[in-house]
Amino acid sequence: MLATSDTAWSVRRWASEWGWDNPNRAACTSCICSGLHDGVLDWLVYSSAADSFVWLPGVGAVSLGQRKRRIQFCSEKGGGFIRGSVNWKNTLAYRKGACQPASNCRIRIHRSNPKRPGRYLMYRAAVIGLGRMGSTFDDEISSGGAIFLPYCHAPSYAASPYTELVAGADLHAEQGAIFADRWGLDQEHIYGDYREMLAAERPDIVSICTTARHRAAIIQDAIQAGVKAIWAEKPLTLSLAEADAIIELSARNSVAIAVNCSRRHSPFLTEARRMAQSGELGDILQITAYTECYISHNGSHAIDTMRYLVDGDVEWVFGEMESDEEAAGEEDLMGNGYLAFDNGVRGYIRAMPTGIAPWEFDLIGTEGRVRSLSNGAETQYYRWVPGGLRDEGLPARAPFPLPLSIQGTGLSVIADLVNAIETGSDPRCSAEDGRKALEIAIAMRESHRQGGRRVDLPVADRSLRILSVEIGGDAVPARVRRLQQEPVVA
Ligand SMILES: NC(=O)c1ccc[n+]([C@@H]2O[C@H](COP(=O)([O-])OP(=O)(O)OC[C@H]3O[C@@H](n4cnc5c(N)ncnc54)[C@H](O)[C@@H]3O)[C@@H](O)[C@H]2O)c1
Repeated sequence: MLATSDTAWSVRRWASEWGWDNPNRAACTSCICSGLHDGVLDWLVYSSAADSFVWLPGVGAVSLGQRKRRIQFCSEKGGGFIRGSVNWKNTLAYRKGACQPASNCRIRIHRSNPKRPGRYLMYRAAVIGLGRMGSTFDDEISSGGAIFLPYCHAPSYAASPYTELVAGADLHAEQGAIFADRWGLDQEHIYGDYREMLAAERPDIVSICTTARHRAAIIQDAIQAGVKAIWAEKPLTLSLAEADAIIELSARNSVAIAVNCSRRHSPFLTEARRMAQSGELGDILQITAYTECYISHNGSHAIDTMRYLVDGDVEWVFGEMESDEEAAGEEDLMGNGYLAFDNGVRGYIRAMPTGIAPWEFDLIGTEGRVRSLSNGAETQYYRWVPGGLRDEGLPARAPFPLPLSIQGTGLSVIADLVNAIETGSDPRCSAEDGRKALEIAIAMRESHRQGGRRVDLPVADRSLRILSVEIGGDAVPARVRRLQQEPVVA
């Protein structure tokens, strides 16, 4: 057990007490991370010698370089988290931004920044495609539910404690000028050609916020340029062959790819999944999604959320598309699907008009049920209580557990991606997840093409594709199309 002290501690002293291999290095490269939990803070520190996390107990003052910070702990939980209170402005774990929920709490060994002694070196992040999702999408959001701000890429990099936004690239100079002005970048860090940007700026993390038309090529170029991680918009690609190539190349080069099917970072849907996995809902039987959308474009969100909630893979599907004509072509389209998961769960997605039920997910188990309504605006939880005819029990509405804190969705995606870089784990929504969403949509359309036959996955013909609806008119940025009063797919 670690020694505690009520006097000042230095990082150098932790290093020797906890057996860090190089105290000098530890003194300038280590850091504490904290997580907000039950209104108090959890603190952990990583020991590279022990190759494990250790708990920081006791009361003390901590000095890191020139910065002296006071941390007061009120209790210690044996072998678990140490919970304490702290003056937020005096935390040394975070330069800015909110703490992570305890479940995400993670210690990172920061590299010191040689140009700014005492400051942590952040991951260098750059954005390709400086439009709505690259920069301004958050301006369109007026209430939370499915999304919490910061959500889109640039504001999330700007706010994240892990990243520094260093550059952007867009074919359209005006998009670049607006981006530079808004995010405080010198024009010299804005590029017309993303390849030049990758070579000159050497970013660690790159966001790819063009439409799916260009995504496969840009992802492959970014991997070849040596980035550590990619945050890619959805849908991942137009064709299965493109997705296959990306996944193969990223695996070969150990590059993490997070696909922005961001509902995986919703605290409500994450809690619903936890309830399903823990058995609180009993055996999971059914997942239903009502999402009026095109099956590749926003269908990628819906299909991915279904897979996330039931934690299973789809083995086969039936599909019905909006018309034979639409199903025969390659354009994105509306349709419905019946999904058979490998864990026995059955799913139904209605991506045709949904009337008064927009963006609903209904997760049904033998003991409980969670419904996410109106695009995350409300979450309902039902469980059995005694009563009913012949005392068989009744499903009664119970309070749905609320999150202790909610951080911006984009911050959660970045923290997850940084975790993937540092641990080699898959991002919560990986390129594989992106490929599976596309494959399920294609299989639904194939089923319709074959007169409603069952289609097994994986789909054999890898040349199949869906031209995601957002690529229509994408030679002109959405902002300009809006100025010209042309419709833009949200
Ligand atoms: N995850 C979400 O919630 C969400 C929400 C909206 C949009 N999206 C996705 O974001 C993507 C972008 O949509 P948008 O609405 O932001 O479009 P947009 O038109 O606003 O932005 C795209 C930008 O990419 C630029 N661009 C195109 N080709 C380029 C290239 N080769 N190099 C550099 N820049 C290039 C365009 O000039 C434009 O500025 C789409 O794939 C869409 O599906 C996701």
